[in-house]
Amino acid sequence: MNLRYRELDNDDFYTWEKMARPLFSEDDFCDADYLVQLGNKLKGWVLLDNNNEWIGCCFIDNKKHLYNEQGIHFLEVCTFPKYRNRGYGKCLMKIMFDNSLSKTKSVCIAPDNIPSKKLFEKYGFTKYCKRKCWEVYLCDKDFYPDKLKNLKMIKIEKSQEIER
Ligand SMILES: CC(C)(COP(=O)(O)OP(=O)(O)OC[C@H]1O[C@@H](n2cnc3c(N)ncnc32)[C@H](O)[C@@H]1OP(=O)(O)O)[C@@H](O)C(=O)NCCC(=O)NCCS
Repeated sequence: MNLRYRELDNDDFYTWEKMARPLFSEDDFCDADYLVQLGNKLKGWVLLDNNNEWIGCCFIDNKKHLYNEQGIHFLEVCTFPKYRNRGYGKCLMKIMFDNSLSKTKSVCIAPDNIPSKKLFEKYGFTKYCKRKCWEVYLCDKDFYPDKLKNLKMIKIEKSQEIER
């Protein structure tokens, strides 16, 4: 069965905050108020299991970032602990790549966050500069990882999730 995912709305950002805050350091976490104030510059998605449990979330924004003014920033990606190391990070990367085609992609990663560095390096990001307490990684606007090409997922609406 293909995995399902859907876009997050403002209410979901508070669910995200409750679930994800304990998994991040203070510097690395985007809370609900921060996400809401980004308004239409932000898009976020949740990957769902068969019982509509949240597997993981990802967020991108097109705010003007100094190191990537015209592009798309991969703001947050998180697989919830019981789902880690099962390939779901790849699914979240695909959602973000598919929503930033032909744009330079950036991400800020804490220097000691090895799983994230490995994940982003695997999908074509390279270290570009330092910014505050992070390392900025960039990915070329025309690059699309081969490994993501045949990955199939189904996009649903929130209403379809509730009916299930
Ligand atoms: C980073 C994260 C999203 C990876 O999710 P995941 O579902 O475990 O990832 P996958 O199983 O799809 O693994 C994809 C790749 O990530 C890398 N990776 C994942 N976990 C790793 C670990 N513990 N150590 C080293 N590399 C790791 C590997 O390159 C892996 O590919 P491989 O299995 O072929 O070697 C997850 O660890 C997470 O949510 N971390 C906390 C939140 C966070 O720090 N987010 C990033 C903010 S920039």
